[in-house]
Parts: sequence; structure tokens; C-alpha cells
Amino acid sequence: MAQHKDTGHQKIETNNFLMIVLILITVAFGGLVEIVPLFFQRSTTQAVEGLKPYTPLQLAGRDIYIREGCYGCHSQMVRPFRAETLRYGPHSVAGEFVYDHPFQWGSKRTGPDLHRVGGRYSDEWHRVHLNNPRDVVPESNMPAYPWLLTNTVNPGDMAPKLKALRAIGVPYSDEEIAKAGDDVKGKTEMDAVIAYLQVLGTARK
Ligand code: HEC
Repeated sequence: MAQHKDTGHQKIETNNFLMIVLILITVAFGGLVEIVPLFFQRSTTQAVEGLKPYTPLQLAGRDIYIREGCYGCHSQMVRPFRAETLRYGPHSVAGEFVYDHPFQWGSKRTGPDLHRVGGRYSDEWHRVHLNNPRDVVPESNMPAYPWLLTNTVNPGDMAPKLKALRAIGVPYSDEEIAKAGDDVKGKTEMDAVIAYLQVLGTARK
């Protein structure tokens, strides 16, 4: 048998450890090439036109949404497939989420996607539904959240929340931060969650 020249390939293919290290380097490089540009592209880092930072009331609602674990059953990401856009509306784009820290995309869908739920129902519908989903959707297995009607939002919490978000790039002004508490004064948690739901996905229309 003809002796072929050792090109180095043989060394790699017969050495498990070297092979593993080189595969990891190759995969990591491929990953970086795909992921790193996303941190710098306009389409992924700039807010879509019309997107506004959450008002203090909407933000309070968002925090209640997270506290109550709504994300455990609801995603907020309409995927670019016909079946999804027919059901929910225009697919979601990255620029709609630049003020979301953390974003609520999710993938668990026991209930419908909520990214385009803003404006779909009246405030009153949400009030009845959240108080007891069975009152409007008899077959619903969504839990009831009656305490939202009586718990009130603490105005003192709002300025620090806005400040924290400003520190990571949400453009709140000093004036908005100073007045943040006024926006939620006397409001219930129900008011806050509804304000949040009603703004979801409405920037792009
Ligand atoms: C255990 C799973 C579960 C949890 C947790 C849950 N939901 Fe739901 N949700 C559902 C299901 C199932 C439906 C569809 C039936 C219905 O409308 O009640 C639904 C429907 C909805 C709808 C109507 C959507 C549409 O397009 O018709 C809204 C709005 C909603 N949920 C908001 C919330 C909020 C806000 C929370 C947290 C406070 C929450 N859900 C928690 C399961 C859940």
C-alpha cells in the first residue's frame, strides 16, 4: 500500500481531545458570527417608530404580569408564519421590545399569544375576564385573579423602577421620573394590568 504523506489531518482525527477542542472552536466561531452582529444592527437595537417607553401605570402592570406568572401560559411573540399572522396579526419584530427588560417572549402557549392583544378587547372585558375567566369564556382553564381588583399600586415604587430602567437605556426624563408616582395614585392592580395589556403590540400598526 502506498504510504501517503501525513498532512496533519491524521493527527487530528486520531486524537479525541484535539478533535473536541477544534470542534468547539469552530462551533463557537460560527455562533459568534451569527450572534454578535445582532447587538449592533439597527433593526434589532433601535425602537420601531411609534414605540414609547411604558407609562408608570403600564410598567406597574407589567411587573404584576411577571409577578403572577402570566408568562407561564402566554407568549408575547407572533412568529412570521401564516397561521400565526392570520390569528394574531403582524408578526413581532425586535425593535418592538427594546424597552422590555426583561422581554416576555416565552414559548409556552397554554393560552393565546398576547403580543397583539392591545386594543382587541375593551377594558371592561379584561376586568371581567381577569376577575374570573369563566364569566366570558366558559371553557377557559385560566386562573382567576380577583385580588387585582382590590390591591392598589404603591406610587412610591414607581420612581425607582423608572430610574433603574433609565440606567439600562430606557429614555425616561427627570420630569417623568419625578411624576411617576402621580400616574398610579389610587389605581388598582387591575387598572395597571389592563393598561399594560392594552398597549401591547400597538406601536406597529
Ligand atoms: C394556566 C395558564 C394561564 C395563566 C397562568 C394565565 N392565562 Fe391567560 N389565558 C389562558 C387560556 C387557556 C386562555 C384562553 C381562554 C380564555 O380566554 O380565558 C387565556 C386567555 C387570556 C387572554 C385573552 C387572549 C385572547 O386573545 O383572547 C388574556 C388577555 C389573558 N389570558 C391574560 C392573562 C394574564 C394577564 C395573566 C396573568 C395575570 C394570565 N392570562 C395568566 C391561560 C392562562
